[in-house]
Amino acid sequence: FHVDMDANETDKGTYPFYMLKEIDEQPNVMRRLAQVYLSETGEPVISDKLLNSMKQADRIYIVGAGTSYHAGLVGKRLFENMTQTPTEVHISSEFAYEQPILSKKPFFIFLSQSGETADSREVLVNVNAGGYESLTITNVQNSTLSREATYTLLLHAGPEIAVASTKAYTAQIAIEAILAKALGEADNQIVAQRFDVRHQLGLVATGIQAIVDEKKKIEDLAKSSFLNTPNAFYIGRGIDWSVSLEAALKLKEISYVQAEGFASGELKHGTIALIEKGTPVIGLITQEKTAGLTRSNLQETMARGAHILTIVSESLAKPGDDIILPDVDELMTPLLSVVPTQLIAYYTSLNKGLDVDKPRNLAKSVTVE
Ligand code: G6P
Repeated sequence: FHVDMDANETDKGTYPFYMLKEIDEQPNVMRRLAQVYLSETGEPVISDKLLNSMKQADRIYIVGAGTSYHAGLVGKRLFENMTQTPTEVHISSEFAYEQPILSKKPFFIFLSQSGETADSREVLVNVNAGGYESLTITNVQNSTLSREATYTLLLHAGPEIAVASTKAYTAQIAIEAILAKALGEADNQIVAQRFDVRHQLGLVATGIQAIVDEKKKIEDLAKSSFLNTPNAFYIGRGIDWSVSLEAALKLKEISYVQAEGFASGELKHGTIALIEKGTPVIGLITQEKTAGLTRSNLQETMARGAHILTIVSESLAKPGDDIILPDVDELMTPLLSVVPTQLIAYYTSLNKGLDVDKPRNLAKSVTVE
């Protein structure tokens, strides 16, 4: 049994909780993935066998639970943009018992930090019974999902010990980006050819570093806006909506604030009824096409008393914005925009005096269906 880690990787060092250590490790994880999965010239190094088998697919099915499912939602946008292959994302516990109609040539991607999630494994058992090929993207070599899938790509994130997943989420997205680039290039897709994944991962690594260096500011914001609220909303459109779901999950699982991620245009069709004086509504704004729309949706909530906050890419920023993210390719923004939301959840939990790493009722890996 081989465990791929250094002794100090499981040591908290001077950190009060593993979660903060793991948030801080993300720039290094990005650099490591570039080393492992890119050649010296910056081209993806993905086995021909895996690429050929994915190339034959007419549809990609991504399967995962919790945070891994959320990483899949971002993956859909990466695969569809760079490969033009329709991509569906499914919650594993739903897929296992309500199997969607499959295309003629499906290819399955399992996302799982632990590689042990029973709900995801149940789907893989069915996929194998159907004779289909699959890929597991996991942090744990030799895990069940890795052994039972046709192919494996490792996250190389180092052990993730805090129950709330952080670096595994960003590592999953980075690998999806590399894989989408490789697949799109193999198919002469222009978007993929133009996407300089090495340069982008470099920008992402320095960008995450800049955000985690601003911890104090994010802690102050968490203290003033989240400590005493029973609920909160993250809103965004497109890829920002995908991240808003993960942002809300982080806040729920470790700080017990009831939080929802919402498609900002959908808010007015019901959920806006929940906005009261002081309800925090955080807008994620990283896509040029929808930035103005999300800003007007924020205004609508402000008119109903919401306390609005913004997490915005630098090129789209306006005076008064709260957290500014360094610019990267619009497809890579989740790797940055999620980081302040991880820190908001962390500091809210910490300042409530909760056990950040071991939230109530939760397990790191759920091996029952
Ligand atoms: C559990 C954890 C979540 C995690 C999910 C999927 O519910 O509490 O943080 O996202 O399982 O885990 P996996 O190991 O399959 O990514």
